Amino acid sequence: MKTDDLKREIAKIKWWHTIDLGNGLITPGRVDPRGRWKELGISENLQGMTVLDIGAWDGFFSFEVERHGAKRVLATDSFCWGGQGWGTKTGFELARKALDSKVDDMEIDVLDISPDKIGIFDLVLFLGVFYHMRYPLLALERVFSVTKNQLVLKTHVDMLSTKRPAMRFYPGTELANDPTNWWGPNPAAVVAMLKTVGFKKVRIVSQYPSLFYRIAKAIRNKIKNNRVPFFQAIQQDAMVFHAWR
Ligand SMILES: C[S@@+](CC[C@H](N)C(=O)[O-])C[C@H]1O[C@@H](n2cnc3c(N)ncnc32)[C@H](O)[C@@H]1O
Repeated sequence: MKTDDLKREIAKIKWWHTIDLGNGLITPGRVDPRGRWKELGISENLQGMTVLDIGAWDGFFSFEVERHGAKRVLATDSFCWGGQGWGTKTGFELARKALDSKVDDMEIDVLDISPDKIGIFDLVLFLGVFYHMRYPLLALERVFSVTKNQLVLKTHVDMLSTKRPAMRFYPGTELANDPTNWWGPNPAAVVAMLKTVGFKKVRIVSQYPSLFYRIAKAIRNKIKNNRVPFFQAIQQDAMVFHAWR
């Protein structure tokens, strides 16, 4: 596709991910994950591996694992790709074409995932999806069933001052005015749930967010007119977990 044509196509899409498509063309995403790859703690060398990216949306992380050598990547999604949210699948399809990527895709709900339907994968990415799950343990059981070796899970977390496993429930639009946000687990709950569904080893990859850091972040958000009450905001962050079979 010619650069000018690609530029026109990019402009027609509402992007979630900022993706560098080459030739100076960068998609105007709502989030820029380009600097966030490292925080996931994934090996830089994925040579020969099979990878599943659940809830891929525009596909930034699918294309990234392919770039790091994965031999087969399957990107799945349902909510946005199915047109239920403000996003669509058009961004993923355009980026795949522009990057000349071989990433496969399947529109499938997390709860419909099984080895029979999609196979099993050396590495599974479950990034920014867990807190959208209405049935969190059931969702993790499905994710476990298709993980051959390792899962990388990134999620919104809450109740950070509570040490025992606990999750905050967000009815309605309580979290970020988004009715698809259901749960804010604390790290102990994420670890316990991953073990409950069968993972043998679980590691918290992110540094535990200190109270000082959380207060500073909550003040910054307040200044930016964030709607989350201050004392709730200081209990929240996002964290990365690794789990092995
Ligand atoms: C916050 S976005 C995260 C996108 C990407 N993984 C990332 O980390 O930037 C959540 C994604 O999960 C998808 N999703 C939400 N519920 C889902 C479900 N039940 N089954 C499959 N995908 C779902 C949405 O469509 C969306 O693409």
